[in-house]
Amino acid sequence: QTIGWAPEAVARAGYQHLMLKEIHEQPRIIRNIIQRKQSAWLPGDSFGETTCGVLLIGCGSSYHACLAGKILIERLSGIQANAELATELFDVTGSTRRYRAVIGLSQSGETADTCAALDRQRQAGFYTVAVSNVPGSRITRLAEQTILTDAGPEMSVAATKSFTAQLVTLLNMGLALPLKEPKRALDLTGELRALPARLQRILDREDAHASAARWLASFKNIICIGRGIFLPIALECALKLKEITYIHAEGCAAGELKHGTLALLSPVTPVIAFMGTDETRAQMLTAIREVKARGVPVLAIAPEGEEDLEDLADRVILLPRTDPLLQPVLAAAAAQMLAYHAALSLNLPIDNPRNLAKSVTVE
Ligand code: G6P
Repeated sequence: QTIGWAPEAVARAGYQHLMLKEIHEQPRIIRNIIQRKQSAWLPGDSFGETTCGVLLIGCGSSYHACLAGKILIERLSGIQANAELATELFDVTGSTRRYRAVIGLSQSGETADTCAALDRQRQAGFYTVAVSNVPGSRITRLAEQTILTDAGPEMSVAATKSFTAQLVTLLNMGLALPLKEPKRALDLTGELRALPARLQRILDREDAHASAARWLASFKNIICIGRGIFLPIALECALKLKEITYIHAEGCAAGELKHGTLALLSPVTPVIAFMGTDETRAQMLTAIREVKARGVPVLAIAPEGEEDLEDLADRVILLPRTDPLLQPVLAAAAAQMLAYHAALSLNLPIDNPRNLAKSVTVE
């Protein structure tokens, strides 16, 4: 959806690919988003029940942002949140569950499945909110309320800047709700302010990502693992790899490895492990040990302070450390860089991968 975008905004601006340009735009975009204060967006509890929360729906990368958004909203506000694939939301949930709002996430605002699912919810009487990157897009026209992610035009098929913009927008939406711990907003203010510079530090370490990416590109299958808010990042990493490198990649909840996926792992099927800074840290270490004990190569993506991982994992990419709710934004940027450089080393058409479209306007 390019209507209305200025020509200079959709040019490569000296970068080899649009995807790389869009990855590098993230610090500026995130700085802009955090400077905006999100106003109240959730209507009152019209069902008169305290249990009804919000439902987030989307497809592809936007669905992964929904999964992260569920955790962000619940952790900050205590309001119950669910996330569902728009493509799997066939029936109107009104009879069984009463949501205070159904939030449709769509970068393009034109994804037919997301628009149709949100419209069905609206027709069933739910209050609908569109979170989109494109002003005036279809989803913004059908929802009662629109919150723009303001990442600017995204032209490369694989979502990058729109995904991190969705994460920070959802965090802002969480902060605009009555908070479980009001002090939490203050803790986050400083961390949010430092986020663009921390993101820039990751983008400046192109060589480290390119070297790990060339190594990844030598495999045919890759499993990405994470827990808690890092599970959506693991899923997004696998999606980025599939989309632009054509390597078979799967995202898996680290705790679920032993329930099946472990059987796939071998010295030629490596694991990318996303380490958190929260209570999931110890469980992730256990998962990495389990995997290493089976001779499986591991690339760990972890916050600074986890230098000991260098004795355990084959490769480690250390990211600046921040608040547990912001760490996924940094991990997502690292995942994007890895996928980009892996595809570059394989000499693939990064901005226009085979069989994929930027926005899918048929159901
Ligand atoms: C397409 C794109 C994906 C994107 C998905 C949802 O499949 O190739 O990159 O995540 O649509 O797009 P949306 O515009 O609704 O966020």
